[in-house]
This record gives sequence, structure tokens and C-alpha cells, in this order.
Amino acid sequence: SVVAVIMVGGPTKGTRFRPLSLNIPKPLFPLAGQPMVHHPISACKRIPNLAQIYLIGFYEEREFALFVSSISNELRVPVRYLKEDKPHGSAGGLYNFRDLILEDNYSHIVLLNCDVCCSFPLPEMLEAHRSYGGMGTILVNKVSPESANQFGALVADPVTNELLHYTEKPETFVSDRINCGVYIFTPEIFTAIQGVSTQRKERATLRRVTSFEALQPANRSLPTDFVRLDQDILSPLAGKKQFYVYETRDFWEQIKTPGMSLKCSGLYLSQFRFTSPHLLASGNGSKNATISGDVYIHPSSKVHPTAKIGPNVSISANARIGAGARLVSCIILDDVEIKENAVVIHAIVGWKSSIGRWSRVQASGDYNAKLGVTILVIIIKLMTFLYEPGESVLPNKTLNVSVQDEIIL
Ligand code: GDD
Repeated sequence: SVVAVIMVGGPTKGTRFRPLSLNIPKPLFPLAGQPMVHHPISACKRIPNLAQIYLIGFYEEREFALFVSSISNELRVPVRYLKEDKPHGSAGGLYNFRDLILEDNYSHIVLLNCDVCCSFPLPEMLEAHRSYGGMGTILVNKVSPESANQFGALVADPVTNELLHYTEKPETFVSDRINCGVYIFTPEIFTAIQGVSTQRKERATLRRVTSFEALQPANRSLPTDFVRLDQDILSPLAGKKQFYVYETRDFWEQIKTPGMSLKCSGLYLSQFRFTSPHLLASGNGSKNATISGDVYIHPSSKVHPTAKIGPNVSISANARIGAGARLVSCIILDDVEIKENAVVIHAIVGWKSSIGRWSRVQASGDYNAKLGVTILVIIIKLMTFLYEPGESVLPNKTLNVSVQDEIIL
């Protein structure tokens, strides 16, 4: 049988995601109305003989307790959160729980980064992995040459699919094929991680004995139990017939910033058309507002029949959307109130915000831009006013004037 492990990181990771992660852990931020990590978990459900899903992170246990119990019930698959006492790196985190993970003699380990958005073609990958016969198979994707340096870039044999070369976030162009953060491993991966750890210990001893470190301070190494999957495992083992690649032609994005979360919310909404049409507002017929394109509305939210919603809108619990309101490309979080005739375009409206009558909250919709584009409204109380591109507003703020291209703190 197969075990799935999702790396969720911890509060010191994902800083680019602020201020959205000030309230909840980034892996629980809603995309298409479901916590980010819900999407890979439900993809794991499609793996034949899946026995268990573990989430590994260094967030407090209580932050995941509710989510883990509700998703276990909903999907009827055991999901458990395992807390690291400190960050061990993407491979070290897995290794830290080796006894538990190896306990049930699983044949394969599916390892996923929580902050990627894709169709997770796991059954297909598993099949490819079996045919390659290596220790691991990596999901890869083709990106533009200009963006390849933000990821792990790799070269594979076009015939055998063997991983030949791997460089994490290369400074110069290596390849436009990149690591998607989705892997299938056999249990031998634990031996490989242990090898890195042992090597580090030996070097540390050598340094102590020879004062090597004093001669070469740049060589001061990472803690012996901190092992990164990419730099420490994939790079050195490339070209040794241990790793293979499986290329996806479906959508794939990385979710590091609020802007990208808005884009990924839209990608998951359009995927719902095939996987869960009952979750889409157009499919469940429960709301009689005008819906255009893919829209998710939580059943507890109230949307006025004269409001116009969509495309790419996701509305979380207990929101109230007033008469004549217009929402396009946005994520509306819990307990938000959007009053009559307000317009919200390309925005994330934070928990408990209230947007006044006839207000306009709008951005250009360039998902990749940092500030100056996608707007964040985090627990602010907006009166009637104009709110233009380029703003990021932190919690507990009331605005009653028009603002443009400013950060309001
Ligand atoms: N539990 C735990 N402990 N999780 C961790 C730790 C850790 O110490 N460090 C990282 N993670 C999790 C993150 O939350 C994320 O889901 C995943 O592991 C990878 O994070 P990073 O190691 O910070 O790498 P990255 O996201 O910058 O890049 C990786 O993913 C890209 C695809 O999205 C690399 O593998 C790239 O090569 C790859 O292209």
C-alpha cells in the first residue's frame, strides 16, 4: 500500500504570504473555498491502495487539529498531523518520522509540497514510477526560460526519462524543465537521506579534529539532521539511475504570494467543473444572484439576488453580499460584509472586513506583481470610498478616504 506525506512548513516559512498568514497557517488559507492543503489531500484519495496521509510541519498541533479531523471524516481516509520540534528541511522532516512512516511496510511514499497548485496526476505518476524502477520519480513542468531560476531546474533523458542533472534555483539558465514539488519514492529514500546525515556528522567530526572550520569558515555546515530534498539529495544523485521524471502538461503554479493565491483559486475553481461540479454556484442552483463563470459560495453566506458574482470568485463562510454588489476575481474570507452597490475586482477581502456602499476596491489583476497590483484588505472597515490598485492594508484599520498606490499601516 501507499502512504502520502504533505510538507506544510511552519510559521517562519511562507513570509511572502503575509499578511494573509497572520491569521491562519498558510496551508489552511482558502483557495476555491477549501483550505490550500485540501486540494492535494483530495488528489491523494485517487491513489489506489492509499492507506494514510501525514502532514508534516512545525506549526502547533492545535492549529491543524480541527482541519485534520474534519477532512478525515469528509474524505474517509486517515489524515494525521505530525509536528517537528524544529525545521529539518524538506527531506529531514520526512526522515524525522521514518519509524512511523515505515512502520506499515508501505511500498511507496508520495511526497507533496503543500504550496503548489496543480492537477496532481498521482495515479499516472505511480504507474510511470513502477515502469522506471528507480528510487524516485519527480513531477516536472515546462516553464518560461525567464522564470526557471525560481525553481529547481533539471535535465532528463528524453528517452528513458532518467534525471541527469539537477540545480536548485540556478543563477544561470540550465533548463526550462522544473521540479514541481510532487514526488513518488520507494522506502530506499530513507537510506539516501541517512547517507547525507552521516556524511555531515563525519565532516563535523573531522572539522573538530583538524580545525578545518577555522581554515575554511565558508564550509561551516548545516546541522546534521537538516536535509533538503533538492540540494542534498536530487543534485548529488542525478545521473545515477536513481531518479526519473514524469512531465505534466496540465496546469501547475507555485503559491508563494497573495496574488498567486488568487490565480490558483481560479485554477481550482475551473477544475471543480470536472471534479466537483456540486461545489460551483452555477451547478448547485442554491443562490439566485447572477453568476458568471466559476464561483464558489459557502452555504452559510447570504448573497442578494441582485448581486452579480464572477468569474473566479470564492466566498467563504458567513459573508453578506448586498444588493447590486459586483464581485470579479476575488477571494472573500469569513464574516465579510459587502454593502449595496460596492464593486470588488482582483482583491482579497480579509476576515470580518466591511466594505461600504458604493465603494470600489479594484486592482489591475497582474498576479505576479508584488505590491501595486493585487489588493489585500485585511480586517479593515471600509466606509464609502474609492480604493485603488496598489494597497495593502493591515488588520484593524478603518479607511474613510480614497487612497491610491499606498501601503497603509
Ligand atoms: N515540515 C517541514 N519542515 N516542511 C518544510 C520544511 C521543514 O523544515 N522546509 C520546507 N518545507 C516545506 C514547505 O512548506 C514547502 O511545502 C516545501 O517543503 C518546499 O519548501 P522549500 O524547501 O522552502 O522549497 P521551495 O518551495 O522554495 O522550492 C521547492 O519547491 C519548488 C516547487 O514548488 C524546491 O523543491 C524547488 O525545486 C521546486 O521547484
